[in-house]
Amino acid sequence: TGKFTFDPGFMSTAACNSTITYIDGDKGELLYRGYPIEQLAEKCDFLEVAYLLLKGELPTAEQKDEFVNEKVIRHTMVHEQMKQFFNGFRRDAHPMAVLVAAVGAMSAFYHDSTDITDAKSREVSAIRLIAKLPTLVAMAYKYSVGQPFMYPKNDLSYTGNFLRMMFAVPAEEYVVNPVLERALDRIFILHADHEQNASTSTVRLAGSSGTNPFAAIAAGVACLWGPAHGGANEAALKMLEEIGHVDNVPAFIEKVKDKNSDVRLMGFGHRVYKNYDPRAKLMRETCYEVLNELGLQEDPLFKLAMELERIALNDDYFVSRKLYPNVDFYSGIVQRALGIPTDLFTGIFALARTVGWIAQWNEMIADPEQKIGRPRQLYVGSPKRDVPDVSSR
Ligand code: CMC
Repeated sequence: TGKFTFDPGFMSTAACNSTITYIDGDKGELLYRGYPIEQLAEKCDFLEVAYLLLKGELPTAEQKDEFVNEKVIRHTMVHEQMKQFFNGFRRDAHPMAVLVAAVGAMSAFYHDSTDITDAKSREVSAIRLIAKLPTLVAMAYKYSVGQPFMYPKNDLSYTGNFLRMMFAVPAEEYVVNPVLERALDRIFILHADHEQNASTSTVRLAGSSGTNPFAAIAAGVACLWGPAHGGANEAALKMLEEIGHVDNVPAFIEKVKDKNSDVRLMGFGHRVYKNYDPRAKLMRETCYEVLNELGLQEDPLFKLAMELERIALNDDYFVSRKLYPNVDFYSGIVQRALGIPTDLFTGIFALARTVGWIAQWNEMIADPEQKIGRPRQLYVGSPKRDVPDVSSR
């Protein structure tokens, strides 16, 4: 057993080389392909960031035009038969359950691009995933509320189109609010990649067997669903709702600190960031912008969140453990203000992270050092023994 290093949670194992995303957890720095997240969130839209993550460089104006208009837009519709697939689910299913299935089912609907040895085919799969995820997430939502599915409208931006597919109904005109469109686009940018987190590692591990990209990304969606990962924004908002009032914050903090309770402050703490998560700062700004636009400056949940943050950042329990707000602490409040239901938050995260997953999957496939993922174990079970007859067990 001495041959392998025991490293549960891969705290100290680098499983790949990557040129995509860099995080300095102590400084609270996040770079995509070398560019600071703050500058990307300010100067780029989500599809430019997607291009950057996929191809390594920001697009020129012509490259952007080609990527958006010749590629992504041509793939925003999903196969008509997919409606039947959605109709098989219970209406009260969690949208992530539907999304795991729908993304996996893309391998059945788009099997003409599942040859992973062909670069062209890999590119088509990547574009299909990026272009269709908003359509699938919006379909999961529409199905849950019993409204008709909305087809994509390709003269809108990627994010404007998504908002329309979510909130428009066929009989009525829908006008995209540019402030809300920009806020959601920023949520997408901030969630687009985060190096080897649990879901990305899952995509790489699944992909390392040579499975097709739709199957590998479906594995990522499944992993993202968990409350310690993508489910944290949903959990953070539920927590704020449960706390209910600013006056209840101190008692809640005491419950979190109690050694005998397993209550965590959701939206706080991060495996890598041991300083303020740079995404959380941007999300806090976005939160102000959206609440101002909607006249919700006095939103009680936002006030509660700010008070919780203030108390936690001054409390030795959190300070000594280097627990700071992460991106999910504020993104739930923004999404709620946009009208996105809580159980769809992780679906929004999946939509954005699909870009990172597919960029990481591509990088892995092209890496000559890539091997099938196969962690080892330290066996701590019974020594070798004989099987007794059933009468003597
Ligand atoms: N609230 C209270 N205590 C915490 C928290 C928290 N949110 N997070 C960590 N701790 C404590 C933990 O109890 C432990 O204390 P002690 O040393 O006394 O046992 C110490 O801090 C170290 O915790 P850990 O679990 O070893 O840390 P980790 O690096 O394994 O966990 C984490 C990282 C994100 C899973 C964890 O901080 C957590 O559960 N946070 C809440 C869920 C959350 O917000 N997740 C979103 C992560 S960011 C979005 C994403 O990338 O998906």
